[in-house]
Amino acid sequence: MERRLWRKGAMLPDPHHLAALDAADPLGFARARFLLPDGLVYLDGNSLGPLPATAPALLAQAVADEWGQGLIRSWNDAGWIDLPVTLGAAIAPIIGAEPDAVVACDSVSINLFKLASAALALRPDRRTILMEAEDFPTDAYVMQGLARLAGVTLRRVPRADLPDALNDDVALLLLTHAHYLSGQVHDMAGMSAAAQAVGALTLWDLSHSAGAIAVQLDADGADFATGCGYKYLNGGPGAPAFAYVARRHWATCEPALTGWMGHAAPFDFAADHEPAPAARRLLTGTPPILAMRALEAGIDTFAGIDMAAAEAKSRALVQLFAAGAAAIAGVTVDPLPTGRHGAHCIIRHPQARRVMNALIARGVIGDCRPPDAMRFGFPALTTRFADIGLALAALQAVLASGEWQDDRFAPKGVVS
Ligand SMILES: Cc1ncc(COP(=O)(O)O)c(C=O)c1O
Repeated sequence: MERRLWRKGAMLPDPHHLAALDAADPLGFARARFLLPDGLVYLDGNSLGPLPATAPALLAQAVADEWGQGLIRSWNDAGWIDLPVTLGAAIAPIIGAEPDAVVACDSVSINLFKLASAALALRPDRRTILMEAEDFPTDAYVMQGLARLAGVTLRRVPRADLPDALNDDVALLLLTHAHYLSGQVHDMAGMSAAAQAVGALTLWDLSHSAGAIAVQLDADGADFATGCGYKYLNGGPGAPAFAYVARRHWATCEPALTGWMGHAAPFDFAADHEPAPAARRLLTGTPPILAMRALEAGIDTFAGIDMAAAEAKSRALVQLFAAGAAAIAGVTVDPLPTGRHGAHCIIRHPQARRVMNALIARGVIGDCRPPDAMRFGFPALTTRFADIGLALAALQAVLASGEWQDDRFAPKGVVS
């Protein structure tokens, strides 16, 4: 199949074969679940998932009916009070967890703090949090704050050194399942077993895995996990995140950040905190209902989706894009997407921001990470094989023309 995709000597895949791949794609139907602007090649679902087609009506109803008419009664009548657990249960099958093990709440940063503090409390005699040196900054920032507060040491080591750094002083091993830049995927079962062998607990950041690739938290022996709602779960800008705790810790998991929504009986207004059952104990304050409704629409886009099939499709898209980009002069593909991989990949150019701005002007949207990475995401639900051809053609044109050097493509703004 690979041979037929490329015309002899061509840098770009044959559009006819891309169209044939789209026609045969068993997940092709899912794109209709979204409202995407015409003529745009959107390859940034790894940063902000697109708008689910049901979201505008669901949000309008939540505003006009639930808030406007139901008012305070909607906490019960519209099920607002239970949304963190009902949405958690809906996220659970996407990440291989049982329903009561997951809640939708807060941000990844806050959930990292809560879960890591719970892990430290479960291993009071140990003094080390271990994580990968090159992980997403918020993971490190949160652990730095927690380590200061708890009086433990944060050890950050290169990926290859992680197994050797596991010892009997490690309370917690924090890992990002699919790396936010390289896309490399940790062996969850293997690393969980290695941590367990020395008595350490694991906390997984699933921000680039949940809704992107297959995850089996329960089966792979994870202890704790969290991940974004606004990326592959399509929950909207700033969507609530989720938090997972394995059943074996339900009775004993006690995060340092406790709030009334995680109380066993919040409306008893008791003087002291008594944790709610299962993952509900991870809740803190009042849930943001409108954001929760948008997240609900995002989670609904996964109805009937087999995550193994989604991962296989994204992998094919990533490899096709990487192979095409590798043949274009001026960019390098580093690292090459080999082995199990997230649904995104990066290519490098010394003026990545300018090149990306020029691509965006041509209707191809990805994002950048300093100093030289352009990142492109290929969520299985929304990406067409034809998009790969269009993106590669635009990249080739931007580089061949040198248009990225134009003043209008100079870096500006803070969010990318
Ligand atoms: C791996 C990873 N963790 C965490 C975050 C951000 O988490 P938060 O929800 O706190 O903004 C991101 C955002 O891109 C991420 O890529």
